[in-house]
Amino acid sequence: MPHMAMHGLVLSLVLILLAGGAEAFRICAFNAQRLAQPKVAKKSVMDTLVQILARCDITVLQEVVDSSQKTVSLLLQELNRFEGSRSYSFLNSSLLGRSTYKEKYVYIYRSDKTQVLSSYQYNDTDDVFAREPFVAQFTLPSKILPNVVLVPLHTTPKDVEKELNALYDVFLDVSQRWQNEDVILLGDFNADCASLTKKRLNSLLLRTKAGFHWVISDGEDTTVRASTNCTYDRIVMHGQGCQTLLKAAAPFNFPRSFQLTEEEALRISDHYPVEVELSQAAQGIQPFMLGHSAAAVTFSISAVLAPFRWPLT
Ligand SMILES: *[C@@H]1O[C@H](CO)[C@@H](O)[C@H](O)[C@H]1NC(C)=O
Ligand SMILES: *[C@@H]1O[C@H](CO)[C@@H](O)[C@H](O)[C@H]1NC(C)=O
Ligand SMILES: *[C@@H]1O[C@H](CO)[C@@H](O)[C@H](O)[C@H]1NC(C)=O
Repeated sequence: MPHMAMHGLVLSLVLILLAGGAEAFRICAFNAQRLAQPKVAKKSVMDTLVQILARCDITVLQEVVDSSQKTVSLLLQELNRFEGSRSYSFLNSSLLGRSTYKEKYVYIYRSDKTQVLSSYQYNDTDDVFAREPFVAQFTLPSKILPNVVLVPLHTTPKDVEKELNALYDVFLDVSQRWQNEDVILLGDFNADCASLTKKRLNSLLLRTKAGFHWVISDGEDTTVRASTNCTYDRIVMHGQGCQTLLKAAAPFNFPRSFQLTEEEALRISDHYPVEVELSQAAQGIQPFMLGHSAAAVTFSISAVLAPFRWPLT
């Protein structure tokens, strides 16, 4: 029956559109372990890094130890070649650290989907942090949450408790400055195993104050080595908008996904990335009814998809 066939076609088209429209926005944090030029010069390492970054709309890279801009440029070049239809850009902090050993935070983001609204280096007057957060505010393709603040931190293992409590001050500073309660704190917090006992973890301000959601749960392994099982890398979310859009969060076990041996995986990093997916669908898309005319179905789908439209320029 031509009419039914047509109806079926429209419906599957609509379902594809719906799935595409509800595509999650993924924010990731990755301690890429001493990321510098010799590392990305190895093709197999570069290829895996590119695949890891291509999963995410924004990645906060940590432990970028390159004083030049070359490592990030090379990464972006390969990433933009790999995903020809997308365009990735970056935003980096300066090199941070108390000694000659320094690292920077680098945001790699899809500039066709998100934009940097503002950023600043947290003014760490009491020198609490080894690498004070380089805070940034990004736009999101969502009407519920048009923008979100990211606060990255890579703690130094000997000061985990002190730094994580000071991270609460950074939250206060940024949420006041930008009048934005929707804040995602993320990175290698070293918040487990020998660096932080369960008791101290549970007494952190970010645990005892209301409104913070640790979406990478205790017990999730974020380390590559089979001999370790620690939840070092974390994502903590604050704000109603974030909560509404939260769809899923997990470490990304890249050795398993890319079928790498432990030895091969350790050439990339000893950490897994951690990822959070934000999706309009998380707050429940209106189910549409079968039996509508094609025009009506298409119309209702456009209405559902409208919030995903990207307000470019
Ligand atoms: C980004 O890195 C470059 C090269 O290290 C540096 O010149 C620049 O100041 C950095 N950006 C920020 C915002 O610190
Ligand atoms: C950081 O804070 C200190 C003390 O409040 C102030 O003297 C200094 O000018 C600030 N630096 C920046 C870059 O804002
Ligand atoms: C890590 O330990 C937790 C318990 O704390 C356990 O549930 C989990 O399965 C372990 N993961 C691995 C990969 O061994």
